[in-house]
Amino acid sequence: MKICILKETDENEKRVALVPDVAKKLINDGFEIFIESGAGKQSDFSDEDYKKHGVQTGDADTVIPNADIIFSVKMPDIELIKKMKAEACLIGLLNPYDNHDQLKTLSENNVNAFSMELVPRSPRAQSMDVLSSQSNLAGYKAIVDSSSMFNRAMPMMMTAAGTIAPAKIFIMGVGVAGLQAIATAKRLGAVVSATDVRRAAGEQCESLGASFIMVEEEQDSEDSGGYAKEMSEDYQKRQSQLIADHLKSQDIVICTALIPGRPAPTLLTEEMVSSMKKGSVIIDMAIERGGNCVLTEADKTINVNGVNIVGDTNLISGLAPDASNLYSRNLYSFLSLFVDLKSDEKLNWKDEIVEAMSVVRNKKISENFNK
Ligand code: NAI
Repeated sequence: MKICILKETDENEKRVALVPDVAKKLINDGFEIFIESGAGKQSDFSDEDYKKHGVQTGDADTVIPNADIIFSVKMPDIELIKKMKAEACLIGLLNPYDNHDQLKTLSENNVNAFSMELVPRSPRAQSMDVLSSQSNLAGYKAIVDSSSMFNRAMPMMMTAAGTIAPAKIFIMGVGVAGLQAIATAKRLGAVVSATDVRRAAGEQCESLGASFIMVEEEQDSEDSGGYAKEMSEDYQKRQSQLIADHLKSQDIVICTALIPGRPAPTLLTEEMVSSMKKGSVIIDMAIERGGNCVLTEADKTINVNGVNIVGDTNLISGLAPDASNLYSRNLYSFLSLFVDLKSDEKLNWKDEIVEAMSVVRNKKISENFNK
């Protein structure tokens, strides 16, 4: 069975879907691996690094049309999808919520597709959980980036010349990225606080040494999958008041609040930003789904009355080798579940994890995304 690794076409995307070490494991398992020349370059993996493990390289026209399985990081362009052979399987972070044209082309060309974002949050799927592996690194990077932009020190420093107060960091949304941001900020010595709409987040956050604030609500806002629900207007008003008061004293704000399949909730208004101290930094990690701050601009850093607002849609690319490494291992785990080279049928379509991640099967687009 032939696996092909695409070179990402988005210039901001520096990750590669398969690193040489994991390519070697797949070759040992009996797969043939082909990679588009230069696919690993931005993650510091040369064609030579792949070739020495037995990977074959070539251009898109050579490697794509023969592949049974295609690995990508992001959803490929329509022109690349048209090169894929019928019944091939594309596996990547396909963002099926937004990429309707590409889903249509996949279906028209009878290419099956799996979206890694749809991995169920179950113990059995943990090794494939790309949302966790990538968000974890992104949460760390958000703190590293914000601390280097912030023009003051992070920890409290008591010197003979006087005492410097620690930076105050506020994390909005305590999922995987938020928890890693809290842990990293604590290691740097900052005073950390956080908010979320899920009660369970409070305990997790306090166990890492951060204080937790949230709107009092009788009903919990966590759905059966562990995700947040969209909040009522009344809740949003109360949350807005709570945040507005807290924000005035904060130096760095990391926004990570997301609701699956919905635009990111708006949490920071223009008025709130203008109440912040000069030199403060906001890293809006929710920008890929519109942002938690109304002022954030995608892929720009803007300065509003002395407050820097960062809208990097691909923060994770700043850690491309590590991110690619973990992503490759997530793909490897998924493939180990989906493909059994020793069986007659080869592909295991019946597993519930495989079913949950399928977005196009036999020309049919999954009904959640068939708009
Ligand atoms: P996410 O990226 O979907 O959202 C980030 C955070 O934003 C969440 O904690 C969410 O509650 C919060 N949020 C949403 N709306 C908000 C608002 N209006 N105000 C403040 N915060 C808001 O979340 P992620 O990181 O994907 O985690 C989702 C859930 O999955 C969590 O419960 C996490 O513990 C769980 N999880 C389970 C795993 C497993 O069982 N294998 C692995 C990883 C995560």
